[in-house]
Amino acid sequence: MKCWRAPGKIILFGEHFVVKGRPALVTAVDRYATTCMGEMGEGYIVEAVDLGLTADLRGDVPVELKPYKRIYELVTEKTGKIAPFKATIRSDIPIGAGMGSSAATAVAFTAALLDHAGLEVSRDLVNMIAYEAEKITHGKPSGIDNTAATYGGLIYYKKPHAKPLDVRLPEKLVLVAVDTGIPRNTKALVEKVLARYDKYTDIMERIYDAAEKIVEEALKAMGTGDLERLGELFELNHGLLVSIGVSNRIIEEIRYRMLEYGALGAKITGAGGGGLVIGILDEKSVRDLFVRLRRFGYKKIFVLKPDENGVVNCNVK
Ligand code: PMV
Repeated sequence: MKCWRAPGKIILFGEHFVVKGRPALVTAVDRYATTCMGEMGEGYIVEAVDLGLTADLRGDVPVELKPYKRIYELVTEKTGKIAPFKATIRSDIPIGAGMGSSAATAVAFTAALLDHAGLEVSRDLVNMIAYEAEKITHGKPSGIDNTAATYGGLIYYKKPHAKPLDVRLPEKLVLVAVDTGIPRNTKALVEKVLARYDKYTDIMERIYDAAEKIVEEALKAMGTGDLERLGELFELNHGLLVSIGVSNRIIEEIRYRMLEYGALGAKITGAGGGGLVIGILDEKSVRDLFVRLRRFGYKKIFVLKPDENGVVNCNVK
């Protein structure tokens, strides 16, 4: 049995501003998708456990499994015929929360399939193939999510390239993400921001410049391990996101609670309007924050640590 796992991700800085060519910083986080693949007598079977779906990739497959079919086709093009298999895919990355669950499953599946086919599991190849699968899921993805899932660690993104960085996040850093319970509508929010950009271009350009500066400062603060400064930069970045119109009362309520309960900074991650709010914390404050948020009634709270490894083999004996 060949088992491979790949991490999810969180946008730390620069969402929305990336749409106009400014940089963003993303970190892989310790929530994982895993694919275990074993030989089968016959068939090329994928079972996506969390979706409750199973299909043979040689035939018609449900839309959710189309990315795996694409990966199977691409790997088959490289190797010729592959021995039959059964792949079991599991994930503890929340779906549809902006945490890169589709990319992580695509990366883990690609690595397992290359391994099963007897090919070298090169990260660059995994990343390239998983990106093709992401196009099926998202149309025109930036490539951040598959890059984070493949290489782990911090990713610097500036259109059109996503680049893994050597910089590490401070050891003591913990991220806490709280789900607002409001579904995200990324497309509508991006359009709203772009309309504001067109209406107030001169003002917005200055906001976008500030967002770019925040990314530069954040990189420096990561280099020196300055958690407090990173928290303040979260606040500055969030202020800009408020000014471009993507926050709301629920997000602000969560944010202020997080700050009151010990977060050094808290912000929207991703499109805003709903989705997740993330707080940055020193690890010693995490328990207290978690308990107090729970007591307050928030149900979906994720305590996240950066993942440095990206896609790895995790064979079960
Ligand atoms: O919330 P998400 O994961 O869909 O993130 C969207 C990030 C944006 O910058 C708002 C849009 C984009 O395409 O980069």
